Amino acid sequence: MKKLIIAFLLAAAPMLGLAAGGGFPLRDAAIDLSDEASLQRGAKLFMNYCLSCHSAKYQRYNRMAQDLGMTDEEVEQNLMFTTDKIGATMEIAMTPEQGEAFFGVAPPDLSVIARARGADYLFTYLTGFYKDEAKPWGVNNVVFPDVGMPHVLWEQQGMQKTNYSTDAEGNQHFEGFELVSEGSMSPQEFDGAMRDLTAFMVYIGEPIQMDRKRLGVWVLLFIAIFFVIAYFLKKEFWKDVH
Ligand code: HEC
Repeated sequence: MKKLIIAFLLAAAPMLGLAAGGGFPLRDAAIDLSDEASLQRGAKLFMNYCLSCHSAKYQRYNRMAQDLGMTDEEVEQNLMFTTDKIGATMEIAMTPEQGEAFFGVAPPDLSVIARARGADYLFTYLTGFYKDEAKPWGVNNVVFPDVGMPHVLWEQQGMQKTNYSTDAEGNQHFEGFELVSEGSMSPQEFDGAMRDLTAFMVYIGEPIQMDRKRLGVWVLLFIAIFFVIAYFLKKEFWKDVH
């Protein structure tokens, strides 16, 4: 029995968000995929700040337009910097070799990163860069120690440092972040922006989920109505048998 419980806990660990993050408590991303405005803001951040190093090569611009309630023209004029074809996928000019030469490791394609890591991890990652002069980019990350990515949004967030306290046994406890220099956004605004960006990455991880959720409501409704019909049919059929 004990073994069974342990096996279950191990199997459930990824769902509980314990798998990724190297022990750092993940923050709740609290994304809302039904919020179109949030997804649109996330798309804008992604196109402006991420799609230079990272591709999202399974995602097409016109599919995004359709799913997020934008017209092709809006996307063409405001969100397309790497191509002029609305039917194209989100590719980048940088080759993996160049990426590796610049950063030591090629920036991964982000199409399905949300499925690999989970929304809470991404949110904690994006808000978790902190000052660390010993690192090549002058920053480190609470959920990704020795990360090879620069803090590309430092102008928005500002630069923060981590505060740790040491208990009687000499163990370190994370106490919180402290801004050393302010960014153009307040911490609340930056959290909101990273929530939008996380939501967008969750969307591109599985674009069909938008349709599936819409469809799911109708399926449940159908089952509910069908249950009532089946119940009365059963009563009718069994009437003579009894
Ligand atoms: C200047 C280039 C550059 C830009 C711009 C950039 N990244 Fe990265 N990113 C990297 C590199 C390099 C890595 C690989 C880090 C490593 O493996 O050490 C990475 C890794 C990642 C990872 C993977 C983390 C993991 O746990 O595997 C995520 C998620 C990510 N970036 C998201 C973003 C988002 C979102 C943006 C836009 C705000 C962005 N990146 C902008 C270079 C960049």
